[in-house]
Amino acid sequence: MRSVDLLLICCSVASLWRRSSLASPPKILGVAVKARSETLLTLEWSKAKDFSYILGYGNGTETPLTVSAEGSVVRYTVSSLSPGTKYSFVLYAVFKGVRQSAFNFTAVTSPSNVANVSVKARSETAITFEWRKVNSNNAFLYVLKSDRSESYTPMYWGGATATHTVTSLSPGNKYNFTLYTLFGGERSSGYNFSAVTMPPNVAKVHVMQQHADALELSWEEVKSRNISYILRHSSKYETTIPALEMDSVMTHTVSSLSPGTRYIFTLYTVYEGVRSRGLTFTSITASVTVTGLRCERISGGHALVVIWDAPSGQWTGVEVQMNGRNSRYLNGTRLKFDDLHPAFWYDVTLKLVSGTVRSVPATIRCQTDPRGVIAGVVLVLLFLLFFICLGLVNHRRKTHSRSDQTSSGRAEEGAIDAPARVKAQSSDPEKPPEPRVNKKRKEQPVYVNPYATP
Ligand SMILES: *[C@@H]1O[C@H](CO)[C@@H](O)[C@H](O)[C@H]1NC(C)=O
Ligand SMILES: *[C@@H]1O[C@H](CO)[C@@H](O)[C@H](O)[C@H]1NC(C)=O
Ligand SMILES: *[C@@H]1O[C@H](CO)[C@@H](O)[C@H](O)[C@H]1NC(C)=O
Ligand SMILES: *[C@@H]1O[C@H](CO)[C@@H](O)[C@H](O)[C@H]1NC(C)=O
Ligand SMILES: *[C@@H]1O[C@H](CO)[C@@H](O)[C@H](O)[C@H]1NC(C)=O
Ligand SMILES: *[C@@H]1O[C@H](CO)[C@@H](O)[C@H](O)[C@H]1NC(C)=O
Ligand SMILES: *[C@@H]1O[C@H](CO)[C@@H](O)[C@H](O)[C@H]1NC(C)=O
Repeated sequence: MRSVDLLLICCSVASLWRRSSLASPPKILGVAVKARSETLLTLEWSKAKDFSYILGYGNGTETPLTVSAEGSVVRYTVSSLSPGTKYSFVLYAVFKGVRQSAFNFTAVTSPSNVANVSVKARSETAITFEWRKVNSNNAFLYVLKSDRSESYTPMYWGGATATHTVTSLSPGNKYNFTLYTLFGGERSSGYNFSAVTMPPNVAKVHVMQQHADALELSWEEVKSRNISYILRHSSKYETTIPALEMDSVMTHTVSSLSPGTRYIFTLYTVYEGVRSRGLTFTSITASVTVTGLRCERISGGHALVVIWDAPSGQWTGVEVQMNGRNSRYLNGTRLKFDDLHPAFWYDVTLKLVSGTVRSVPATIRCQTDPRGVIAGVVLVLLFLLFFICLGLVNHRRKTHSRSDQTSSGRAEEGAIDAPARVKAQSSDPEKPPEPRVNKKRKEQPVYVNPYATP
């Protein structure tokens, strides 16, 4: 509030009407504005003995004033004025009905406050305010007072809005401001408001764990008061994460993600509803693959069972494909393939299915039981050997002119059995023999399958 003792010094010597040579009326030395508002002006001046006064307005209206006998000053309040307006007055000193002197002066009413201040732009250290000019008038100046400083923002130019930028502020802080309108040296009552600066960003986000359906994130807390965080997903889905008091490292798990997918995140620091610029980072969820793949031979070599471990995480099924066959979809952990050839190698590919996403394929090469084939081969070889032996014996018999036909059948049986068993057990399953057609399947012996472990 401006000083109420402001003296309005008369700019010119008061006019004097020397109607009466006897009277020597005192000059009005000055009129003070004792109180001021947007619509009122309280005027005060020294009283002269036996004088009365008339107040004339700039528009020509005059008001005779009643003066009480007491006191040494006259006080009068002019009301129904407009804010931020300069008024001219003339005060006449009247002695016995005759105007002795006139004192011209001006006074201004208090200007209005701005209606509203909005934040037009914001950074960590600066805020730009915007407001509508009072009465859309360039005659007003503005003073923006903060907790630490005052700055004048003259507005002689521009349209109906004024802007002003406050700099050198701290990040993530709340500041109080008062915006005064200035007119004729008079300030408005002041428009109080507060505004916050942008909080600082998180320095770095670490992806601690990449699961197939979740990502574990961690970051060092922003050293600022009353902070929270907002994590934005690529799909614009947002999660508010409250800060942990006293904790310097935040952890957060983003769940319900799809395996093997690249996600874009933006982490914002939030202070009083104001977000930081945002730290954008990407991470990829782990691909779920089938593990523990193994084959199980079925005796006879005409079928195979492929077995795998039940994968952890989110999955809806497994797509299994054997080369040359249609892929099959199931949700179990084993699958039997029939109508295969013994001692053949087959490639089987498994893809874990999670909704519409298929994992990286896992492949295994399996061989059907080769023992039937080996036994057959051995049998053929033994037959050959037998016939060769028979030929030799016959040859010898012919040379010795003798024949013996009863021992041939027995020798055949004994020769088949013993070496076949030895051969089958020592056969290496890792060494793929060339697939061959087995014509002697009915001859295959019945053995306990050494691979048929549950
Ligand atoms: C002249 O101005 C005064 C003060 O603003 C007001 O009270 C008065 O009604 C005005 N008179 C006319 C004729 O406009
Ligand atoms: C004082 O004001 C009156 C009325 O507004 C005007 O007629 C007169 O000329 C003024 N006198 C001076 C000395 O300014
Ligand atoms: C102040 O201005 C802002 C932005 O222009 C607006 O959102 C808000 O409602 C206004 N407030 C008032 C009280 O007019
Ligand atoms: C800002 O004003 C509020 C009340 O309006 C007060 O509680 C707070 O302490 C002030 N802040 C500062 C920094 O002066
Ligand atoms: C504005 O804030 C000041 C202190 O900064 C206080 O004295 C004044 O009363 C406030 N004005 C209003 C209208 O709240
Ligand atoms: C933090 O925020 C809460 C609620 O928004 C408020 O009550 C509290 O005063 C704030 N503390 C500081 C230090 O700003
Ligand atoms: C596989 O599907 C069957 C029937 O749809 C269901 O009962 C079973 O729980 C599923 N198994 C797995 C491992 O999802």
